[in-house]
Amino acid sequence: MSLELTTDRLRIREWELDDAEAALEIYGAAEVAHWLTPEWQPVNDAGAMRSVLHAWIEAGPNLIPPAGRWAIVRKDDGALVGGLSLKLLPPYEEDFELTWALRPDVWGQGYATEASRAAIGWAFEQGIDEVFAVARPNNRRAVGVARRLGMEWVGETEKYYDMRLQVFRLRPV
Ligand SMILES: CC(C)(COP(=O)(O)OP(=O)(O)OC[C@H]1O[C@@H](n2cnc3c(N)ncnc32)[C@H](O)[C@@H]1OP(=O)(O)O)[C@@H](O)C(=O)NCCC(=O)NCCS
Repeated sequence: MSLELTTDRLRIREWELDDAEAALEIYGAAEVAHWLTPEWQPVNDAGAMRSVLHAWIEAGPNLIPPAGRWAIVRKDDGALVGGLSLKLLPPYEEDFELTWALRPDVWGQGYATEASRAAIGWAFEQGIDEVFAVARPNNRRAVGVARRLGMEWVGETEKYYDMRLQVFRLRPV
């Protein structure tokens, strides 16, 4: 779903094919790829990243709103620092999952939390009444983002990706 949001430090916008080189620094980084869902195919060069972006851009209009995949850009220098997505969790496709990926050199500055707050606020305005996040139990940083967002721990499950995951949920206050 088409989106353009701004926060104090960030801009959340649609992906563009020309983001490939910068996106590779995020999704091509081993520290990031390691934590992505099992369906993620590693990307090793800008050409492969461009193909992934092309697929994301093409798929966008067909997703069930407010699902989407967006780029996170730092306002002060225009650098692409991360990606954010809202997608339906498999296999039942009823629950919207928020996912984050940041370029490793910008971890620890609160960008994932700041971008997520804006995206979640927007998603609630679109009419959904809960957002989930799932994290492997040892993904300390992802669990940290969920906690900072005020998400409630719902439990542990293997129902989504055939792997043990911690489940967090946020509902509008
Ligand atoms: C998950 C991920 C996005 C978290 O990144 P992060 O930088 O740790 O998270 P935030 O952007 O919320 O930053 C929080 C950190 O910034 C600090 N921080 C600094 N300024 C801050 C601010 N203004 N607001 C919030 N936190 C701030 C926090 O204290 C925290 O510090 P810590 O490093 O001591 O934990 C990142 O580790 C990543 O890309 N991981 C790989 C992909 C992944 O695991 N995705 C999740 C599964 S989909």
